[in-house]
Amino acid sequence: MTPGVVPGVVGASGRYAGPVLHIPGAWQRAARGAGLLAPDGMLAPTIFAEITAAAVRHDAVNLGQGFPDEDGPAEVLDAAIRAIRTGMNQYPPGRGMPVLREAVADHQRRFYGIDLDPEREILITAGATEALTATLLALLDGPDDEVVVFEPYYDSYAAAIALAGARLVPVPLRWPALEPDLADLQAAVSDRTRVILVNDPHNPTGTVFSAEVRGEILRLAELHDALIVTDEVYEHLIMEGTHTPIATLPGAAERTLTISSGGKTFRTTGWKVGWVSGPADLIDAVLAVKQYLTYVNGAPFQPAIAVGLGLPDVYFEDLAATQRERRDLLGSGLIAAGFDVSTPAGSYFTVADVRPALESGEDAADFCRALPERAGVAAIPLTAFVSDDHRAEYASLVRFAACKRTDVIAEAARRLAASAG
Ligand SMILES: Cc1ncc(COP(=O)(O)O)c(C=O)c1O
Repeated sequence: MTPGVVPGVVGASGRYAGPVLHIPGAWQRAARGAGLLAPDGMLAPTIFAEITAAAVRHDAVNLGQGFPDEDGPAEVLDAAIRAIRTGMNQYPPGRGMPVLREAVADHQRRFYGIDLDPEREILITAGATEALTATLLALLDGPDDEVVVFEPYYDSYAAAIALAGARLVPVPLRWPALEPDLADLQAAVSDRTRVILVNDPHNPTGTVFSAEVRGEILRLAELHDALIVTDEVYEHLIMEGTHTPIATLPGAAERTLTISSGGKTFRTTGWKVGWVSGPADLIDAVLAVKQYLTYVNGAPFQPAIAVGLGLPDVYFEDLAATQRERRDLLGSGLIAAGFDVSTPAGSYFTVADVRPALESGEDAADFCRALPERAGVAAIPLTAFVSDDHRAEYASLVRFAACKRTDVIAEAARRLAASAG
């Protein structure tokens, strides 16, 4: 505790006006893990909040946060309305509604040939976020446990690993390939590794892991008796190749927990319906934590997402084709603006190297703070997704999210191209 330190309050700028380190608790680990707690005790707003505020101020096209600006399929929306109207408004069962667990099982069989018992091997959660947090809290136990994570990474991973008191061991995805180097992966995994956490397709890089990388992850997990946890929320936003869950590799299923959700696939990110599937004993362990986080959520949304998972193939094909078109539009705007661009194979995200636009001493965070006013577009620096020690390697890289309507992406591309020079 710091003597004389006053509680943090939010000032007019949206920043916390005072150090808050005098409040003891595990929250400090979560905030520090996510890079939000400075050594002086100041709690910073996330860069997402800062950039969104700038986007609103300057009426910019917001390609910062990754949520769609259009509704999902009418069948799915109608099913939720029907569920509310027909009284599905009380607590669903702790493991989730049978109709959704059946639908997840059918989906995994239909797309990937994975057989799951909906009674024991599937747990419905409050989005993929709760599935991830409950899984990590359930499986990790203090500082001797390490979690291998591909960096840059989705920010909730670091917070959840820190809450569990465990250690995050990063494997870099280096520009421009943004793919893991097998030697780095081998160096990161050891007998201390409890979990290898895989996000495929990957946020924020758009990388889809190769068969070679997937195979090496499994080989190392077997060698060191580690578990594999996969975050596959972008499984249907694949623009090149097809999605292959690690759980389909021979021998992988027994040590893999697969996580996904309906938010990205059905453009319903606010519904927060997710799931985790895998061996029954591991699911029981996750349930033991999950039931004391939320217990359950989203009763009327669960049968609606079940309808979505059963939509015909053409829905999923169109989703990927639309995303490909938006990716290409955005990419051409970024190239016209003079940036080197990675062409993502999956997810919403495109990474650009904005070095040509940086003044001396500036980095991508400065660029992103100025971009809403300068170009009428908002984006997020990749440093928001890396640990403090590795910020320098990502200092000129920016993530643009192509999850808005095609006409909105076209306008953003036009503005970016016009901002060149
Ligand atoms: C990689 C990744 N995992 C998980 C989530 C969160 O998923 P949900 O909204 O289902 O909690 C996101 C959302 O942006 C994400 O990008």
